[in-house]
Amino acid sequence: MVIPVFPRDKYTSLPIVDRGEGVFLFDKEGKRYLDACSGACVVSIGHGRKEVAKILKKQAEQVAFVIGVHFQNEPAIRLAKQVIDLAPEEMSSVHFVSGGSEGTDTAIKLALSYYLARKKPRKTRLISRWASYHGATIAATSVSGHTGRRRTYHRILLDVTHIPPAYCYRCPYSKTPEKCDIDCARALDITIRREGSENIAAFIAEPIVGSTLGAVAPVDEYFPYVREICDDHDVLLIADEVMTGFGRTGKPFGMDHWGVTPDIMITGKGISSGYAPLGAILVRKRIDEAFEETSSGFPHIFTYGFNPLSAAAGSAVLDILVKERLIERSATMGRYLSKRLKELDDLPIIGDTRGKGLLHGVEFVKDKSTKAPFPREKQVSHRMFKGMASRGVLPYIGTGTADGTLGDHFTLCPPFIITEEQIDEIIDSIDKTAREVATQL
Ligand SMILES: Cc1ncc(COP(=O)(O)O)c(C=O)c1O
Repeated sequence: MVIPVFPRDKYTSLPIVDRGEGVFLFDKEGKRYLDACSGACVVSIGHGRKEVAKILKKQAEQVAFVIGVHFQNEPAIRLAKQVIDLAPEEMSSVHFVSGGSEGTDTAIKLALSYYLARKKPRKTRLISRWASYHGATIAATSVSGHTGRRRTYHRILLDVTHIPPAYCYRCPYSKTPEKCDIDCARALDITIRREGSENIAAFIAEPIVGSTLGAVAPVDEYFPYVREICDDHDVLLIADEVMTGFGRTGKPFGMDHWGVTPDIMITGKGISSGYAPLGAILVRKRIDEAFEETSSGFPHIFTYGFNPLSAAAGSAVLDILVKERLIERSATMGRYLSKRLKELDDLPIIGDTRGKGLLHGVEFVKDKSTKAPFPREKQVSHRMFKGMASRGVLPYIGTGTADGTLGDHFTLCPPFIITEEQIDEIIDSIDKTAREVATQL
């Protein structure tokens, strides 16, 4: 059968999904999959929650769409309050979009508009990190640092400066966490000085790097130091919390692990747990005030920004997240996942396991002592996916881990409602598949 859909990968045929229930997905053939990655780190409260469907039906019947330039709407107002309640104290307002990439573009425009309002129009340059991912639009691809996702479009990307990632397993400065001078944070200071702080608007980073590295957190001193550097140079700190937000790492937001308050936070994914396309930009009070004091506008809105139906979904999801104490559950189940993953450390092809809460990663290497990655043509992460999917478990795979080109990993980020027995099932499938792949290689 020819399906008239232009997909991401034309040459791989995918099963057709039938339904979702809790941590499980079922395809049309009746095969059951344990969704060990919540799609792409999206589904926090589990699939098929009837309470959310009921609220969506009610909202669609009442009013599904208004444009944000004509009306405010109650679901968006309610959701903004819920988001602010979970966020660091100084975050004071929320701008809604339809997903993470739109969020990144919005945050960039907001940063530039903020400096325009403050009569610093030269502050337009952006600094980000290699091995990061901030979305698929041209601006988001420009600040992203994943070689494979950038190189095709290289000639039309924005001119952004990338600094090395805080990636301790492969420290760009050949240090160890025990003997670390946080050179990767110092690189931000040096870069701002070299380019001139009068030209720099913002530094953007994921608190814990998700899809491109597989749950890589920095040393504890990193983000407090980055905050200090940004303050010293009057540069905004944009935290991309699209993956880490809303409890994924066992705290409401990734930056909460270090008590750091960003100036702008980008969120998506978990805010609606996939029940509707939704993202949100959280704005710190001093930015809000700069716009108010200078009567400045923000000439930016998407047709589906502040969408009542999406906001109703987000609001219902956050109600469940709080009522069922699922952020705490993400922390508890995350500790169990971490402990079980560590038991796999001795398997021949596993180089590193890492993460926080229910955001964990596994990196594969050819040689555990040198950390040498496998050649690209060995397709290790794809082999791992195939083997695990055939056992009914879905991980979120990635490549280019080691240097943008070589390297294999996957991310595990199941729904927060997962049980210990279901985590055991994931571990068992990794164990069996890794042994099988090691033998094939
Ligand atoms: C950290 C991060 N930022 C931004 C995005 C882009 O979000 P979306 O795919 O919803 O546009 C992603 C998606 O994976 C992400 O992981």
